[in-house]
Amino acid sequence: MGRVQDKIALVTGAANGLGRATAELFAREGAIVLLTDIDDRNGEATAAAICANNGRARYMHHDASKPEDWNSVLDALRHAHGRLDILINNAGGGTYNDIETVTLAEWRRIMSINLDATFIGTQAAIRWMKETGGGSIVNVSSVAAFVGSPNLAAYCAAKAGINLLSKSAGVYCGQKGYGIRVNSVHPGLVETKAGVEMARLATGAGSDEEAIAMFTGLHPIGRIGQPDDIAQGILYLASDDSSFVTGSSLVIDGGFTAI
Ligand SMILES: NC(=O)c1ccc[n+]([C@@H]2O[C@H](COP(=O)([O-])OP(=O)(O)OC[C@H]3O[C@@H](n4cnc5c(N)ncnc54)[C@H](O)[C@@H]3O)[C@@H](O)[C@H]2O)c1
Repeated sequence: MGRVQDKIALVTGAANGLGRATAELFAREGAIVLLTDIDDRNGEATAAAICANNGRARYMHHDASKPEDWNSVLDALRHAHGRLDILINNAGGGTYNDIETVTLAEWRRIMSINLDATFIGTQAAIRWMKETGGGSIVNVSSVAAFVGSPNLAAYCAAKAGINLLSKSAGVYCGQKGYGIRVNSVHPGLVETKAGVEMARLATGAGSDEEAIAMFTGLHPIGRIGQPDDIAQGILYLASDDSSFVTGSSLVIDGGFTAI
C-alpha cells in the first residue's frame, strides 16, 4: 500500500522541477496522477515516464491562471474518476524585479500565475471536494513569503498571499466540516532550472555552480534543496498521515529562514 494509494491527485506545473518530482513520488506511492502544465512536451514526457515505470498518470494542457482551463481539467477528472482527492497548486514562478523597476504588467503576470492560479484552483477544488467526502489541498509558496528579498517584489507579495489564502481556506473548511485540509509549503532554494536561474540573478554569479555554492552558504544545513526534499513534504500534507494538519505553513529550507 502506498501512502496515497488509489487517490486521485492533480499536480499543476508538473512538467518540470518540483511539480515533476511530486507527480513521480505520488505515482510511486499509489496515486492516480493528472499532471498539468503549459509545457506540453515535458508534461507528456513526464507522464509517459511515470507510466513506463508502472505508475498511473496522464497529462493535460492547463494554464493554471485561466479559469476556463480549470473547467476543462476538472471536467476531465469528473468524467474519468468522479472525484478529486488531492490538489497540488504548484505552477508558478518569478522574475527578478525590485519595487522601483517592476512594471504593473509584470506585477499582474506574477500575481496571475502564482496567486490567482492558486485561488482559482483552491476555490474550484473546495466546491467539488465538499460534495465527494473531502480532500487535501497543498499550495506551493516559498520562503519568499516570509523574507523580503529586495529583488522579488511581486513574487514575495504573491507567495505571501498564497500563505494566508491557504490558512483562511483551511480554517473555513475545518469550521464547515467539509473534511478538506488546506496547507502551504515553503521551499528554500531548490535545484531546478528556475531555482538556479533565480540564484544566478540574486548573486550575480558567473555560473550555476558558483551561484549554488553562494546559496549553499545561506542554508545552514550545508546544501541547497533537491526537488524530492520538497515532494516528500507535499506528500505528507497530501496524505492521511497529516489528518490533524490544516492551515499550516510547512517550511522546507535547510534552515534558511531559521537564522
Ligand atoms: N526552485 C526553487 O528554488 C523554488 C523555491 C521556492 C518556491 N518555488 C516554487 O515552486 C514551484 C515550482 O517551481 P520550480 O522551481 O519547479 O520551477 P520550474 O520552472 O522548474 O517549474 C514550474 C512549472 O510551472 C509551469 N508553469 C508556469 N506557469 C504556468 C501556468 N500559468 N500554468 C501552468 N503551468 C505553469 C512551468 O511550465 C513549469 O513546468 C513554483 O511555484 C515556484 O515558485 C521554487
